[in-house]
Amino acid sequence: MGYLVVFGLGSWEGTLGWSQQGQYESEMQAAASRYEPIYENFATMDFEALSKNADANKLGKSLYASYCTTCHGSDARGATGYPNLTDNDWLWGNSEAALTATLKNGRNGVMPVLAPALGGEQGIDNMVTYVRSLSGLVEPDAAAMSAKPMFLALCSACHNADGTGNQIFGAPNLTDDIWLYGSSDEAVYTTIVKGRNNMMPAHGDLLGENRTKILAAYIYSLSN
Ligand code: HEC
Ligand code: HEC
Repeated sequence: MGYLVVFGLGSWEGTLGWSQQGQYESEMQAAASRYEPIYENFATMDFEALSKNADANKLGKSLYASYCTTCHGSDARGATGYPNLTDNDWLWGNSEAALTATLKNGRNGVMPVLAPALGGEQGIDNMVTYVRSLSGLVEPDAAAMSAKPMFLALCSACHNADGTGNQIFGAPNLTDDIWLYGSSDEAVYTTIVKGRNNMMPAHGDLLGENRTKILAAYIYSLSN
């Protein structure tokens, strides 16, 4: 009974106002105030230097483990729909500004549904083969090459005329044989017929400025 009076039970707070939630929050605050000066110190460093600093990367790695592994994997190699962060192939770019914006504000990659403009199943199949030929997966025959003018008209605004992609739109490079959704006929067909709408959630409020910079530098270090 004495224990219950002091520590409380269920929704009744007890005489000390102790609760698991309260204790968790005060522990988090204590941890934050302990580490904040360290974060602050690292955050004043030049980005490139920060990305090569072993202690900063240790912190970055533990931040990554807390906030990012569920989607990008513990090895940061991603999965279907979740980009690999170690391969130096970027939807949105890997400059300090691009990485910081990605972490802070999140990203929304939108591939519109364009199949209706391709002239039926044959037109779609030709486009699938043409796209797969850009990274050397297939030799394009004359039918596939007939999709090239369509590619220039419908796709090049986002993927560039040569298919190398445009990071302003988060549009992937289609020539490097690195695929967000897989390289098969089916995967490319599905993207063209159904479109894609993919979301990286914003983490700015969760991380704050200093930890965002440390984590961005760690991500940069994974492929540089
Ligand atoms: C809920 C799942 C989810 C979580 C959690 C998440 N991401 Fe992402 N992230 C994504 C998706 C999906 C994309 C791809 C968005 C797109 O298609 O444009 C992405 C994109 C990115 C990119 C851009 C990659 C490129 O090629 O330009 C970076 C960098 C990134 N995430 C880093 C992180 C970091 C660091 C964390 C932890 C703070 C994190 N993500 C947490 C789902 C997630
Ligand atoms: C408005 C810009 C835009 C246009 C126009 C566009 N795309 Fe895309 N495309 C994107 C974006 C953005 C993504 C990435 C979607 C995501 O992050 O999930 C994408 C993804 C893809 C993918 C998947 C690549 C992978 O790595 O898995 C293929 C294939 C593709 N587009 C082909 C095309 C073709 C073919 C056309 C023309 C018929 C086209 N796109 C037109 C923006 C565009």
